[in-house]
Amino acid sequence: MKEPLTLALPKGRLFDQVQEHFHCVGMDFDFSDRKLVAHDSTGRLRIMLVKNSDLPTYVSHGIAGLGVCGEDVVYESGLEFTRLMEMPYGGTSMCLAAKKDRPGVPAPGTWTVATKFTRFTRDWFHAQGLPVKVVRLDGSVELAPVLGLAPWIVDLVETGSTLKANGLEVVEKLKDIRVSFLANPAYFKLYYKEIGELVDILKKAQGLKP
Ligand code: PRP
Repeated sequence: MKEPLTLALPKGRLFDQVQEHFHCVGMDFDFSDRKLVAHDSTGRLRIMLVKNSDLPTYVSHGIAGLGVCGEDVVYESGLEFTRLMEMPYGGTSMCLAAKKDRPGVPAPGTWTVATKFTRFTRDWFHAQGLPVKVVRLDGSVELAPVLGLAPWIVDLVETGSTLKANGLEVVEKLKDIRVSFLANPAYFKLYYKEIGELVDILKKAQGLKP
């Protein structure tokens, strides 16, 4: 029997949609009892469940040859991958947000922005020619304007309910963020036939939620 392909999947809100996608094409797996490594029901895949932000590291090191990951996380990693397909779910927007009664735009001063996405934020502001002071946070970034740490945030917005609940609003959408199925480039060269078959199967999934 052929060795299974290795795949890293992210813990968290994306996981259920990925599991449903694979279920739609007859590839089932589960990670009950706090298991972190599992095989799919067809034996085609050996799957490891990793923290979202660690996923690029696992794929880049070849521990998993394949991964499903948001472009936001890939960009922050600074690592290069082969993109196999865009997943038809999990899309969000990277946005600049602030309190509804926000301060005026600092002109020509420095913007102070709290974010988990420090690389993206620095690159975006610098591309506009704007000086920026980036305050790095690991989560609940919406608290920064509320508590006075920074007047501006850059964060993912999906439904907008977290912003709303904290009296914040989108000032500007900076980028659409998609979820990619990606491969370690060397792994892709070694297993392009098997990976190609898997991508064809995944593209056939019916009934996926948009
Ligand atoms: C993300 C993001 C926002 C929230 C936006 O955080 O950083 O906080 O989701 O979603 P909404 O627009 O649907 O309200 P996540 O839930 O991944 O948790 P974290 O802030 O702890 O990283």
